[in-house]
Amino acid sequence: MHIYHNSIINDTGARGILPPDTCGKDYVTGHRVNSNRVISGMSKLENIKGVIFDLDGVICFTDQYHFLAWKEIADKEGIEFNEAINERLRGVSRAESLEIILEKATREYSAEEKTALMEQKNNIYKEHLKDMLPTDLSKEVKDTLDELRARGLKLAIGSSSKNTEFILERIGLDGFFDKISDGKNIINSKPDPEVFLKAADMIELKPEECLVIEDAEAGIHAAVSGGFHNAGIGSASKYAKTENAIASFRDILELV
Ligand code: G6P
Ligand code: MG
Repeated sequence: MHIYHNSIINDTGARGILPPDTCGKDYVTGHRVNSNRVISGMSKLENIKGVIFDLDGVICFTDQYHFLAWKEIADKEGIEFNEAINERLRGVSRAESLEIILEKATREYSAEEKTALMEQKNNIYKEHLKDMLPTDLSKEVKDTLDELRARGLKLAIGSSSKNTEFILERIGLDGFFDKISDGKNIINSKPDPEVFLKAADMIELKPEECLVIEDAEAGIHAAVSGGFHNAGIGSASKYAKTENAIASFRDILELV
């Protein structure tokens, strides 16, 4: 367990702010607490020169589109698929997502069939992505990104998605990030740290000089094993290896 100045540490080792739905009601000297977290101002991490953002679930929200596309494939194949299984797909590659879905299949699928299913899924997914607009980028995310840039930090994407550039275009962020490391330039996807190590390399920083922002457990594990600082948002605020639990995107400004 670590103690940070004017900060919190919980029994999982994470420090930070709880998402509203998990906040406790007790207050201790200005710190809001519950069984495993306390909320207060967070102290800055030392020597951070860059921020590496996961895309899906951090910058924008594509979960529903992944779900709809995989559901269509699963229904066509007569394979059970639900929200709980969808949750396991967060942060993992398309090929690994298919393997998770096929755990419920009643027969084996050949490599060719798997390739065809992934292509079909991606075509359906990309049709849904066309519904995304620059208005799907929240003001909070855009303002925070602009402030981080104004502070002189290098900003990169570290995503497992092969649709990263297409999504950034849809939400009006094409050309915004200094570098993009994504599913197209890696062999091993999260929890392997490759995508973040490549991002750090691209922005010419050491892992310990970068803060990774993640919503997926696989992503938090990737950040930790690569030697990066991490902040977990959404579901990732609760994982044991989450170093800084943040309730809102703007809380990144408290850390760097
Ligand atoms: C992100 C999502 C995963 C998805 C992966 C690959 O990490 O969280 O759910 O499987 O990207 O996405 P892609 O766009 O390449 O199919
Ligand atoms: Mg994600």
